[in-house]
Amino acid sequence: MRAKWQNSRAWKWVVNICRFMLGATFVFSGFVKAVDPLGTYYKIQDYLTAFGMQQLLPDIVPLLMSVLLAVLEFAVGMHLLLGIKRRLTTRLALLIMLMMTPLTFYLALTNPISDCGCFGDALVLTNWQTFGKNVVLLTCAIVVFITPWNMVRFLTKKMEWTLSNFSVVFALVLAGYCLATLPIIDFRPYKIGNNIREGMEIPEGAKPTVFDTRFIMEKDGVKQTFTVDNYPDSTWTFVSAETVVVEKGYEPPIHDFVMESLETGEDITDEMLDDPGYTFLLVMHRTEEADEGYIDLINELYEYCQENGYKFYALSSSSSEAIELWRDRTGAEYPFCIMDDITLKTMVRSNPGLMLIKEGVVLNKWADSQMPDEYDLTGKLEELPLGQMKKVNDLCTLGIVGLWYIVPLLLIILIDRIFNKKNNKNDNKLIKKSMRKKIVAGNWKMNMNLQEGVALAKELNEVLTADKPNCDVVICTPFIHLATVAQFLNQDVIGLGAENCADKVKGAFTGEVSAEMVKSTGAQYVILGHSERREYYKETPEILKEKVQLALANGLKVIFCIGESLEEREANKQNEVVKAELEGSVFNLSAEDFAKIIIAYEPIWAIGTGKTATAEQAEEIHAYIRSCVADKYGAKVADETSILYGGSCKASNAPELFAKPDIDGGLIGGASLKCADFKGIIDAWKK
Ligand code: 13P
Repeated sequence: MRAKWQNSRAWKWVVNICRFMLGATFVFSGFVKAVDPLGTYYKIQDYLTAFGMQQLLPDIVPLLMSVLLAVLEFAVGMHLLLGIKRRLTTRLALLIMLMMTPLTFYLALTNPISDCGCFGDALVLTNWQTFGKNVVLLTCAIVVFITPWNMVRFLTKKMEWTLSNFSVVFALVLAGYCLATLPIIDFRPYKIGNNIREGMEIPEGAKPTVFDTRFIMEKDGVKQTFTVDNYPDSTWTFVSAETVVVEKGYEPPIHDFVMESLETGEDITDEMLDDPGYTFLLVMHRTEEADEGYIDLINELYEYCQENGYKFYALSSSSSEAIELWRDRTGAEYPFCIMDDITLKTMVRSNPGLMLIKEGVVLNKWADSQMPDEYDLTGKLEELPLGQMKKVNDLCTLGIVGLWYIVPLLLIILIDRIFNKKNNKNDNKLIKKSMRKKIVAGNWKMNMNLQEGVALAKELNEVLTADKPNCDVVICTPFIHLATVAQFLNQDVIGLGAENCADKVKGAFTGEVSAEMVKSTGAQYVILGHSERREYYKETPEILKEKVQLALANGLKVIFCIGESLEEREANKQNEVVKAELEGSVFNLSAEDFAKIIIAYEPIWAIGTGKTATAEQAEEIHAYIRSCVADKYGAKVADETSILYGGSCKASNAPELFAKPDIDGGLIGGASLKCADFKGIIDAWKK
């Protein structure tokens, strides 16, 4: 059972706001990771190093983790935004947040890594900001986890897997493409068009970082730490020194760009940045890990630079031995400069990668697989498009990539809308169904004497009072039982009704029982128009019309039966028949009176024969009957009218029948004569 607050409008709003916040954050986070999987890979390596686990795992593991994380976050985010696989998705989202929040709390406390890398380089947060963000997201994850069903869906269940798979494939392909080439959107300071020198500048008035040097000195076997201010006398021996950051000041986006010639040890940074000509920088953060598949292309490029008077440097953080090895293996003749490892990884993700610079401005970048070859380098760079700054428009790139996702997504939604319209209709019908009364009514017919009837009514009364039904229950008994049964029946749980009433108000009609008399027994319902009365007692539509009016006038609710014979069904005339029966006896009523009518569709060929209409057959005609009511009284009345099925309905077939959107319960003959059988049918509403 759902608590009332879970279905309140306010709570539904809260759930959906949380779901969109959480979903959008996951999508953003997954997308930026997929755009730069190597960035996340380096970050995971930093984490592993910080926790002393780097040696335990082969390099491929953090790389796989990076791609998987991107795919997982993107897919979970899209699932949340679109409301697909709601239960699974909200569990996953909660699990992720339950892992991330304590981890980021630990990071904020101990600071082993300065930024968590949640949003790659796109949005750098401090560790405490990250923790705060995660607390908010964890709260959202808990909210959506409590009542996932409150998330509004934009797709039917049928298309859920298609969209799940598509989201996963999209994120995988994006990550794979960016891995094989370069990030399609560059969030780093070495972006094409950026001036490296400008990136290194500290604005006027910015707070500088304050450093302090500590000296460890020793005297008589005792070690002590000193600063410049209290540096000891010469009786102390120097052991070591360390420089620590006392106060972090403004740090420019580029702060470690220093090129030191391997050959001379000279710092050539300024010389390179001020050079008015072209400079190619071959970036290999570690030569021992660089892909050797492109060495010929690189050597050709170096030759091209020699011939045309352009500068060419290889940059690496590897040891001189490793660089020597690279030279031996590849025949490289180009000069090497030593540079910081992280700076190199930040400049170009590919290893090796290439950067073209002029006057300190980044003109172009290439991954190893994209490096220019003899077909591109057909003349001087000054005359080639390659020598001009590559045009980059991140918004345009984002738009194109977005379209690769959004166009198929819209197509999926469109297909879903067209092909699953029928199902959507059924979903709507099921919502409407929940608005009307579910009823199981028994029609005892001419069975059971007074004692037997009273015994059955007592048994039912006990059983249903102890185990409350999930629907309205009515027993319609012969006249002789009514007054006695009404005395003890708990009418909050079981309603009481007659099987017939007269078409006259009162007077000399020997053997008849009027609606008023029925009402006076304590009964509230009456069955009218049963096929057995129409057939054996020749009750015509006109007679029934009278009976209906008298019953309503006396405050009885009418269970009005309609249904076709076998011949009529075989002649496919069932719709015509039921419509005529409604028109003949109840469609004359005002909408207000019609609201007191319960319709029972009972195909005559199924009554007492053991032959049941299939659930589909029954649903089809029930929907048709409802459409007739809608035509006559409007959709609202139709949606509120209960339509019961009757005809060999048993505990075994009731669940299937009652599950149909237009079947609101049953009118039961034979199976209402035994408490257990009848209870079995009533319990179908609990399934
Ligand atoms: P059975 O359930 O015995 O087929 O009878 C149906 C019926 O006529 C109820 O009014």
